Amino acid sequence: MVASTEIRAQADALRTELERHDHAYYVLDAPTVPDAEYDRLFRELQALESEHPELITPASPTQRVGGQPSPELAAVHHAVPMLSIRTETDTTDEGAVAFDARVRRALGLDDTAPPIAYAAELKFDGLAISLRYESGVLVLAATRGDGSTGEDVTRNVRTLRQIPLHLHGDAPPVLEVRGEIFMRRDDFERLNGAQEAAGQKIFVNPRNAAAGSLRQLDPSITARRPLSFFAYGLGEVQGWAQPDTHSGVLDALAAFGLPVCEHRDRAVGPQGLAGFHARMAELRQSLPFDIDGVVYKVDSIARQLELGFVSREPRWAVAHKYPAQEVATRLLGIDVQVGRTGAITPVARLEPVFVGGVTVTNATLHNQGEIDRKDVRIGDWVIVRRAGDVIPEVVGPIVERREGEPARFDLLAAIGHTCPECGSHVVRGEDEAVARCTGGLFCPAQCKQALRHFAGRRAVDIDGLGEQIVNQLVAAGIVKTPADLYDSARVNAEVLAELERMGERSATNLVKAIDQSRETTLARFIFALGIRNVGETTAKDLARYFGKLDGLLEADEAALLQVPDVGPVVARCIVEFLAEAHNREVIAALRQAMHWPETEAAARPEAGRFAGKTFVLTGTLPSLRRDEAASMIEAVGGKVAGSVSKKTDYVVAGADAGSKLDKARQLGLVVLGEDELRDLLRAADISPPDSQAVLFEDKQ
Ligand code: IVH
Repeated sequence: MVASTEIRAQADALRTELERHDHAYYVLDAPTVPDAEYDRLFRELQALESEHPELITPASPTQRVGGQPSPELAAVHHAVPMLSIRTETDTTDEGAVAFDARVRRALGLDDTAPPIAYAAELKFDGLAISLRYESGVLVLAATRGDGSTGEDVTRNVRTLRQIPLHLHGDAPPVLEVRGEIFMRRDDFERLNGAQEAAGQKIFVNPRNAAAGSLRQLDPSITARRPLSFFAYGLGEVQGWAQPDTHSGVLDALAAFGLPVCEHRDRAVGPQGLAGFHARMAELRQSLPFDIDGVVYKVDSIARQLELGFVSREPRWAVAHKYPAQEVATRLLGIDVQVGRTGAITPVARLEPVFVGGVTVTNATLHNQGEIDRKDVRIGDWVIVRRAGDVIPEVVGPIVERREGEPARFDLLAAIGHTCPECGSHVVRGEDEAVARCTGGLFCPAQCKQALRHFAGRRAVDIDGLGEQIVNQLVAAGIVKTPADLYDSARVNAEVLAELERMGERSATNLVKAIDQSRETTLARFIFALGIRNVGETTAKDLARYFGKLDGLLEADEAALLQVPDVGPVVARCIVEFLAEAHNREVIAALRQAMHWPETEAAARPEAGRFAGKTFVLTGTLPSLRRDEAASMIEAVGGKVAGSVSKKTDYVVAGADAGSKLDKARQLGLVVLGEDELRDLLRAADISPPDSQAVLFEDKQ
């Protein structure tokens, strides 16, 4: 039955009323009706819509929930790129002073000019989102992606009650709102509790939980996840007489019905900024969500335009971080872990404590040397630090709170000089900080971790061979060395399907992935062996230098020292590894099962025009992955280093480049964007066959 004008008007009125209640409840946190009344209105609208489906609009409150899963998230091009902000690494007031000074200099203001007004906000720890409203209706929601192209998550975003499907008031023809989707800490704890009870994945922190929840193919999953949102800026705008300050923009967004965080201020001059930084530091613990700093933006939009951008970062904004978070808790005991290379690591067992958005129950103590230096003893109150995503560490004891005189901790004595995993002898070299198990591949800890390392994405890349499967394969005695993976009498679809959490399909897929890994590169193979101190870069250097595996197997220490960037420590580790008969046996077996292209020991870096030049990569490049950029650089003889120093020749910076970029600027180094890097390398004299081989060496 076609709806009459009257019914249409009734549906419109119900929608408007429901939207008003949603806004009051989810944005203003001030409910206007009892839940039962809301439900009654909702059901009334649902009934009207089911009788007259032509009345349903995508922006109806009934359309927030559910929908069919989509096969993939479509790509969305951002008309106005989603940029990142420069991070001020000096976490003291000086950070604010330095930013203000940069802005004043860039604007050509001298000391007599009045102080600059800023909009000061929180730096939310979630993921950036762009919401496109056309004539006030939400038509598109996209993630940031690489800044130019993101993913279409419209159907997922519609399930967030805080995000209006219709803007209030007189909305312009086009208004793109930029902001952050995040998860509150209490919501995160509840979600993880429910996940655990259901035997599902536990999220490591609220940010990962928010990202995982938003990027679902099935919007009904997102609908069940407690996500929140704050608006903090604009993207493309058409037909709107935009306010002339950023604070004004945020006020306008709030008036359109969008959630804007109340903790923001107009701050004047560097003192104003520092004051905000300090006030928010006080508030931080009591906020219901995580922040990793504050953000300052020049308030005047005219000045923002004048200041412009440098390498995809606005000159008019900065993120001012807080120092790593530290808390006090009790050291209940010290456990030991055996690493992939046999390193015995002491791990602090702590009374659970909430720090930086997660509950921490253990933290690394690194090695005996560190325990001695810090003088931590079991039973002590200790300070635990967590910075970003790194493993929490014990900073030191609070000696004043020590009760009595607990004994000093002696790692070797505590484990009776034997490996807790395999009972082999544990030794600590004379000038070594680290104690090691001598059990090699006999030691299940080393064997499990050796297998995980071998299968890793940057090693031979066996998709699906995760920690749990490895643990089961080792525990069941099916696999002892990486070579066993390729023995189809041991590892096959039937055997795998018997393992826990493995269906037939995953078993077949894993067999396929193992088979695919048979084709690899020499560099990946060398890296996959897990030789101590032979990381990805060294493995590439070795592969390029020797060309063939035999060259490496036959090399003595002197020969290895000829390889560019291989020093005595690395050379000794390689020789020791290859001196072990068990390791040679495994390599021989792997050679039977695997294949990689071998070359003459030819493509020596000296041939390239960038021989000896050091590059540092930082941030996310618009289209190149880090490994791709590294391969391109290496193809012309350049080296990619992990940190910036005076010796760095070029710094390649992308979005969200942090302290490395700051340091590069301080040192006055050459900073390139992706395009400039391509131009530079294109100009290099690449001899086609070799460069091709190296260029595509990394298949990830
Ligand atoms: S403004 C042009 N404001 O930080 C500036 N970003 O590196 C665009 N973020 O991915 C960003 N809180 O997701 C801005 N109050 C805030 C923010 C904020 C968090 C995130 C944002 C972006 C990253 C910038």
